[in-house]
Amino acid sequence: MNGKAELIIDNQRLELPTTIGSEGEVGIDISTLRDKTGAITLDPGYGNTGSCESAITFIDGEKGILQYRGYDIAELAAKSTFIETSYLLIYGELPTAAQLAEFSALLTDYQMLHEGLRFHFEGFPPTAHPMAILSAMINAASSYYPNMVSGKTRVERFPHHAARLISQVRTIAAFSYRKARGLPVIYPKTSLKYTANFLHMMFSLPNEDWTQNEDIVRALDLIFLLHADHEQNCSTSTVRMVASSRANLYASCSAGVCALWGPLHGGANQAVLEMLEEIHQEGDDGTRFLNDVKNKVGNRRLMGFGHRVYKNFDPRAVIIKEQCDKVLSQLHKSDPLLDIAKKLEEIALHDDYFISRKLYPNVDFYSGIIMRAIGIPMDMFTVMFAIGRMPGWIANFKEVLEDPHSRISRPRQIYTGPTLRSYTPLDTRG
Ligand code: ACO
Repeated sequence: MNGKAELIIDNQRLELPTTIGSEGEVGIDISTLRDKTGAITLDPGYGNTGSCESAITFIDGEKGILQYRGYDIAELAAKSTFIETSYLLIYGELPTAAQLAEFSALLTDYQMLHEGLRFHFEGFPPTAHPMAILSAMINAASSYYPNMVSGKTRVERFPHHAARLISQVRTIAAFSYRKARGLPVIYPKTSLKYTANFLHMMFSLPNEDWTQNEDIVRALDLIFLLHADHEQNCSTSTVRMVASSRANLYASCSAGVCALWGPLHGGANQAVLEMLEEIHQEGDDGTRFLNDVKNKVGNRRLMGFGHRVYKNFDPRAVIIKEQCDKVLSQLHKSDPLLDIAKKLEEIALHDDYFISRKLYPNVDFYSGIIMRAIGIPMDMFTVMFAIGRMPGWIANFKEVLEDPHSRISRPRQIYTGPTLRSYTPLDTRG
């Protein structure tokens, strides 16, 4: 690649510069295209569009590679923790012992919600989905910390707001679970680490503490770590787009929660379990269901399969599958849904429909089964994903915040509606 690309449009030859990433990825810079030719590019779903340059996460979907700041996901999963990895994502380097201690102390300092925020929970009906509560509460939190909105302090106070958001998303999530079930809320404990503290807030009772199980804590910590970032996916792009308007960190990440909620994105982990339960209740072993999927009956999809970027395997799915077996055997649990999941995977991996479309299990295929074994209810699965993804959103927000060339995101369109016509008065319309 010589650093240039050529485009011929209506016999006009246009030279476009290229940008090469540190892993050799090539981007053709079309930022002058419209000015010079009047044309724009059209790429529905953005499968071929780079919206930014980023130094946070690298994915090679063809080879099944995922790296956070240059570290392979499998190595981080084996050796790091969610909190250490969060620091890495946000600040670019693994923390020293002193930096990690400082970061952990900030997380502890900010773990309590502003007491005023507690009353917001009362406004939600018992039917509220925890993702609705989470996005609303994160946005509401911004009103308690006005100093993050203005220019200079917004940058200076960033480490505090970042730590507060990572810490409080977990408190909000646990509170929303307790409220939805009519249980008293449990306050965080200073003595507990991040993930153990979350499980304590979820499952302790005022008169009886949840019994800490290191294997369970590790499994959930790993789920958070594996979800911590994934380059320019739907929710992260949303966070960056909102941040590009100079909206504050809370507003931007609250928008990320909304984008994550959908079943084609973070909502897939809940959708996988719903699918497995449905197959189980119908007495099917998965074969009938897969035939429906292949014949596109009711546009059914094998949830937890396929990925926009991974076209070989999802490296997170490999790690999580192993963890899933471990958790179930440690808890001495057999799960008929896991048997169905394994059967679906086995058939799909050898079936031409899935092979030809490069559809493989993604991270959500097994994470739901682990969470179910831990006792996390299904409607909280996507919330777990949001807790995990928070450092990635924050790291991407920081890139936008610190980019001196950042411009408001404002895509173009190709208009296909009616051309100019005259207004017809109401009484003459057919
Ligand atoms: N089951 C059955 N068929 C599928 C699936 C699936 N899970 N995914 C894609 N296909 C088929 C489509 O029907 C289409 O077939 P066609 O060529 O006959 O029309 C073809 O594969 C291409 O599908 P697209 O929708 O164009 O693929 P895209 O890259 O846009 O979608 C997505 C990726 C949304 C992840 C998709 O694979 C999907 O819906 N998967 C199920 C939901 C899921 O697990 N989402 C989680 C993603 S990972 C994450 O967010 C953490």
